[in-house]
Amino acid sequence: MTARIAILISGRGSNMATLIDAALSDDFPGTVELVLSSHEDAGGLTLAREAGIEAVAVPRKTYKGKVAFEAAMTEYLTRAKIDFICLAGFMRVLSPDFVTQWQGRMLNIHPSLLPLFPGLHVHEQALDAGVALSGCTVHLVTPDLDAGPIVGQAAVPVLPGDTPETLAARVQKAEHLLYPAAAARCLSGEIGSAPITEQSGDILLSLC
Ligand code: GRF
Repeated sequence: MTARIAILISGRGSNMATLIDAALSDDFPGTVELVLSSHEDAGGLTLAREAGIEAVAVPRKTYKGKVAFEAAMTEYLTRAKIDFICLAGFMRVLSPDFVTQWQGRMLNIHPSLLPLFPGLHVHEQALDAGVALSGCTVHLVTPDLDAGPIVGQAAVPVLPGDTPETLAARVQKAEHLLYPAAAARCLSGEIGSAPITEQSGDILLSLC
């Protein structure tokens, strides 16, 4: 079965763009049908529309509370018959009710090797801790923030002189490799079959 995917964003949408691209391939077990943004000025909305995808702003600030905001998103998701969600830089914490409704069918990407450095200011946290490797994680979303089952991770080196910006740029390259691969693996039900590890330049990618 081919999944109908929605991508939820808040900003520039570079991970969204790689998912849209990957899903154009016949081999990919899903199609991107909808992009929702919590911010009306998100650059990703324009990118998605240029790719011919329905892209809608559901600005959080125009709703009285989280319940109304999530109800609005649910309306769009239901109307587009979405059965799988990819969070890609979506800067809102979803309610346990919403998450439970999508549990097992919603992925997130986080720019660290979880369980290290959950939350915000991730690259600052990594540099302060003095780690030699950082990277990114794709995980299923559960009500606990950045703590759901890991689907895949990609590691990159932390180099002398790195700033949060230079490290973020290196990690983002890894994100763009990891997210489509991890989403495809999850959608095709292959998690846990035979772990895959690949090296691409200075990126080491591993899928559970
Ligand atoms: C990425 O670093 C992702 O890991 C985090 O938010 C950022 C989104 O970047 N959750 P982009 O909008 O996909 O470029």
